Amino acid sequence: MKLLVVGGGGREHAIIRSLKKNPQVTEIFALPGNGGIAADATCVPIGATDIEKIVAFAVENKIDYAVVAPDDPLVLGCVDALEAKGIPCFGPRANAAIIEGSKVFSKNLMKKYGIPTARYEIFDDMAAALRYLETAPIPTVIKADGLALGKGVIIASTREEAKAAVRDMMEGHIFGKSGDHIVIEEFLTGPEVSVLSFTDGKVVKPMVSSMDHKRAGDNDTGLNTGGMGTVAPNPYYTPEVARRCMEEIFLPTIAAMNAEGRTFKGCLYFGLMITPDGPKVIEYNCRFGDPETQVVLPLLESDLLTVMQATSNGTLAETEVKFADKHACCVITASAGYPKSYKKGFQLTMTEEAAAHTYVAGAKLENGRLLTSGGRVTGTTAMADSLPDAIREAYRIADGVRFENAYRRSDIGQRALQALK
Ligand code: AMP
Ligand code: GLY
Repeated sequence: MKLLVVGGGGREHAIIRSLKKNPQVTEIFALPGNGGIAADATCVPIGATDIEKIVAFAVENKIDYAVVAPDDPLVLGCVDALEAKGIPCFGPRANAAIIEGSKVFSKNLMKKYGIPTARYEIFDDMAAALRYLETAPIPTVIKADGLALGKGVIIASTREEAKAAVRDMMEGHIFGKSGDHIVIEEFLTGPEVSVLSFTDGKVVKPMVSSMDHKRAGDNDTGLNTGGMGTVAPNPYYTPEVARRCMEEIFLPTIAAMNAEGRTFKGCLYFGLMITPDGPKVIEYNCRFGDPETQVVLPLLESDLLTVMQATSNGTLAETEVKFADKHACCVITASAGYPKSYKKGFQLTMTEEAAAHTYVAGAKLENGRLLTSGGRVTGTTAMADSLPDAIREAYRIADGVRFENAYRRSDIGQRALQALK
């Protein structure tokens, strides 16, 4: 079978490594992939949002199955366009990807169907938003409506900060058109849990839970990033919390999307907060999380391609989705300065052991050498029978990933360890 994977980060590298385990897979094309992915797939220089070229490539190369991993091509209708040419795909169509593409849509969906989430108001008029903030409870959370590369969320701890955020989004257009509509919502507290799930629109099979580390610095200080590391499973996701999430959130969300005529197939990512009032949805993503995927997929014992195909065929109920009873830790090595400005173009080297455990997110291949090309450069994952061992191993192996200006958080997994105590 010939497969195509749209995207080119650490998440896509992890997906490709898992897909390769299926002996029926003869070739995987990554569009565009990256210098590290090139060790595991054939990289083709077609951008992840160049839908016309992706479709033309898939048709020309007689692709048997396509996996569309990132949010933007999903929201732009990449799956719709591939399916229109008869190419089966993993991922939601555009009318379902809106669950991530529009926060106004997802908040209204949750309200309409009684799915627990932070209380909120929606504004498309700046004066009304500013008036509302005169009396709104503080801290408060301001969210731009559309995709904003994970940066469209501002947590304001004073009224002035909240008003400035509204002005920046609606008048200053710091997130472009995403700021035309904004959501102002209640500030929730509690530990966060990421749950990625497979769904064919009929049943939902959650993957092992995970914990992201979003801030750039140790002890959760510094700016928000795409994620500096992950552990799985997440100790806050107890069997009782899992049961409530399934009943109060996962199944109602699948049913709500069906009722709206927007059946969701693929990976639905639930960003949850375990509040004193129970689990609530912070956000939905229409795709695998990154770096969550880098701890979740290594723990998957079932064949990834088979499970993905079951989400497209509507046969997920009969398909086993099994995870190893182990712990995984992924440590991101980034370019110092990320998520702000950073230098790139440094040679990236990895020991043999490190290369086998490392997914490459931001490096290009030039004359046979890997050169750093992004903020997040690699994710190194280790698995073990206990969380402390997984953390220790991940850091030990990540030491074999080297480039000038390399930066890692030193405390990935420590919060989870504390929760276990
Ligand atoms: P998002 O980009 O939607 O994942 O939001 C980024 C981060 O902002 C989340 O991971 C949370 O830590 C935080 N956040 C978002 N919404 C809320 C909320 N209503 N209350 C508290 N924190 C929030
Ligand atoms: N790691 C968070 C995300 O993928 O959105």
